[in-house]
Amino acid sequence: MSNGSDRVTVALSELAATESGNRGRGAYMRIGVFCSGGDAPGMNSCVTAVVRAANGLGHQVVGIKRGYQGLLEEDFFINSQGQPVLTLRRASSWSHVGGAFLRSSRSDEFRTAEGQQKAAEILNRHQIEGLIAIGGDGTFQGAVALTQYWDGKIVGCPGTIDNDLLGTDYTIGFSTAVQTAVDAVDKIRDTASSHDRMFLVEVMGRHSGYIAAYTAIATGADAVAIPETETRSKRIVQQMRNLQEQGKNSTILIVAEGDERGGAAELIEQLENENCPYSMRTVVLGHLQRGGTPTPEDRRRATQMGSAAVHAMMDGKSGVMIGTRDDQIVLTPLPETFARHRQIPPSVLELIEEMMVS
Ligand code: F6P
Repeated sequence: MSNGSDRVTVALSELAATESGNRGRGAYMRIGVFCSGGDAPGMNSCVTAVVRAANGLGHQVVGIKRGYQGLLEEDFFINSQGQPVLTLRRASSWSHVGGAFLRSSRSDEFRTAEGQQKAAEILNRHQIEGLIAIGGDGTFQGAVALTQYWDGKIVGCPGTIDNDLLGTDYTIGFSTAVQTAVDAVDKIRDTASSHDRMFLVEVMGRHSGYIAAYTAIATGADAVAIPETETRSKRIVQQMRNLQEQGKNSTILIVAEGDERGGAAELIEQLENENCPYSMRTVVLGHLQRGGTPTPEDRRRATQMGSAAVHAMMDGKSGVMIGTRDDQIVLTPLPETFARHRQIPPSVLELIEEMMVS
């Protein structure tokens, strides 16, 4: 490894020596925290809450940069004293901004058994006894794999804009992603109206229509295409004819990138083949939805979950994800969170059915 990593190793062993008294009393624990997979607005608030809660209980936090890949490279956040300790002062200065100040990644090396064994060895060597993983299904699959080789405690916090994890009615970043999509659609509507056009706006959600469904409802879209319901292009075109006959000069169709008929590029072709009466354009919002200042809801929920993760770990819990149900904290075994994708509630699907065509 690089000199930087050697420095980290030395600094950690020094810390361990100076704090051995605390460790002996069993009062002190070193907790690693990292963000992994697609970044999500609010991840920073979650990291800050972890540091605040852990420090408040006398524990120390190591910020692992770039998710599992950073762990494998021993790429830790180094404070101004040259120590691999994430201070509250540094974490809190980022808590209100989007992105992930610890950075994020997807690691091919960690997917292998060798990578997982190496990660376990690194964690043991650095005397990290607990890990708080902020991410989505891939992150939690990795955490479960790691438990085969590592005895420490692992607690997950759901951080993904897709809102598709079982075990929580909300994932960190979803609120901001919907807000961003709604802002964009409001602007697109202006130009759609000026030019008598129909716009197909594609939002993220590789396997999930959550962002599309909530954006469509919030913007009063005329149609939505999501993987949870069958997208019928004939029916959409018929509805567009009706709307045009009623004098509507522009329309909006929200498309989930994971719709079974394809994204906006595929759907526009199908609508053209069905002789859709409007002149059509597509807009793909893409990664725009992963950035931006987190909404108050994302910050509040992220803070609630980060704190709950620390407390769950101190209560001896491991291999679980923190979630919320009716605003109450709930814990779900990690394998259950990614066993399948979370379904959109029937009440939301019924509202869509009443408000627009799909
Ligand atoms: O964060 C989840 C997600 O936004 C999906 O909706 C999307 O398909 C995917 O990440 C794309 O991520 P990347 O380009 O980083 O692989």
